[in-house]
Amino acid sequence: MFSSKIVSGFNGEINIPGDKSISHRSIIIPSISKGICEISNILKSQDVMHTLNAFRLMGVKIDELKNKIIIHGRGLNSLQKPNREIQLGNSGTSARLLAGLLSAQKFNTTLLGDKSLSLRPMKRITDPLKLMNAKIETSNGCLPIKIYGRELQNIEIRIDIPSAQIKSGIILAALNVKDKSTIFETNITRNHTEIMLESFGANIDISKKNNETKIVVKGKKELLAKNIEVPGDLSSSAFFIVAASINQNSKIKLKNININPTRNGIILALDKMGAKINLTNKKFINNEKVADIFVKSSKLHGCELDEKFAKLMIDEYPILSVAAACADSPSVFKGLSELRLKESNRLELIKTNLLRCGCYCEIKGDDLFINPLNKTEVNQLNIKTNFDHRIAMAFAVMGSKIGNLMIQDPDSIKTSFPNFVDEFNKAGGNIIEK
Ligand code: S3P
Repeated sequence: MFSSKIVSGFNGEINIPGDKSISHRSIIIPSISKGICEISNILKSQDVMHTLNAFRLMGVKIDELKNKIIIHGRGLNSLQKPNREIQLGNSGTSARLLAGLLSAQKFNTTLLGDKSLSLRPMKRITDPLKLMNAKIETSNGCLPIKIYGRELQNIEIRIDIPSAQIKSGIILAALNVKDKSTIFETNITRNHTEIMLESFGANIDISKKNNETKIVVKGKKELLAKNIEVPGDLSSSAFFIVAASINQNSKIKLKNININPTRNGIILALDKMGAKINLTNKKFINNEKVADIFVKSSKLHGCELDEKFAKLMIDEYPILSVAAACADSPSVFKGLSELRLKESNRLELIKTNLLRCGCYCEIKGDDLFINPLNKTEVNQLNIKTNFDHRIAMAFAVMGSKIGNLMIQDPDSIKTSFPNFVDEFNKAGGNIIEK
């Protein structure tokens, strides 16, 4: 449990860790490439460590230095059968991406997860893989899953669920299939897998027509390792961007943050709400767009976001909801069905906790309606997190505004942002661990 209290402002430069999605891919892709790959600024959180341990179990040599890892890749078919089941903890990205990659190996594997991950849907990845002739047994559509690795067939598939994890799992499977596989994406989802594979020399072709993205992968081509610098994580930055926006006397700077346009919805949404956010020093690192982000205290207004936003910022709705509660007019966020399927049922938890904070909100269908908070300081309140890191961090930020929030299971934060409390308190926040 930790207690988050009112603060008088957030200031200074915040040390944002490496991007979680890119960190996972920075282990997976070099592990099946040829050559030595040095990865700097990788996120060393529990989720990413589960991916790293999985590849060590499959015989990949990975050296860990202070802020770097070095992967000694030996090629597309160099992975070895692990001598035990692979435990992936809380990490949905590891589970879905590895399901794809391991379906096309020459050995069998079993993937396990913690309580929360074992409740999350896996059929969304195993069903398309089965169309490629993969042999996978799920436990009622969830983890544990047993994968019988074998030669797969190519696929032509249209993915309607907005999920980068499904797309990436299929692409990773297709890397080991000789014939061309074609994936049509009807929604925009983060494209870190495609960007990294292109730079590692994969045979991957991406084009856009009308509102669809077409990804063509021709497999069986060796990938060549390249060094990677992981940019800062925009999803982790979002907690500080909102903290500085909603509190007076705030002025913060976040350096080298990934602003890939397939997932920058939080910046667009906060901009619509009147946040004073300035992006400078825009450039590309490893073909990923990055920028420095400056944020000042702002007067936020409510806004209406249609379902297109949900694809560009699905992980940021908990913290955006806190911003909406601190705005001066109501907000509506539409099309949030996927939010029910994350590390927790985030849609329900946002509502439960906002109501506890005295903020009127309701869910109608898949849409979330949030009214501004009608009180400024609360008596000691319990925030329910169901061990969800983003709910815990979002309500720590809420505590900086209304005080006295007792947040359950703060350990969950280690899954994505191990230095969150230190950075928060260093910048002026007041989280006391109890
Ligand atoms: C991720 C994709 C998203 C996101 C998750 C990370 C990834 O999940 O919510 O935190 O790294 O590919 P979905 O693919 O389920 O939308």
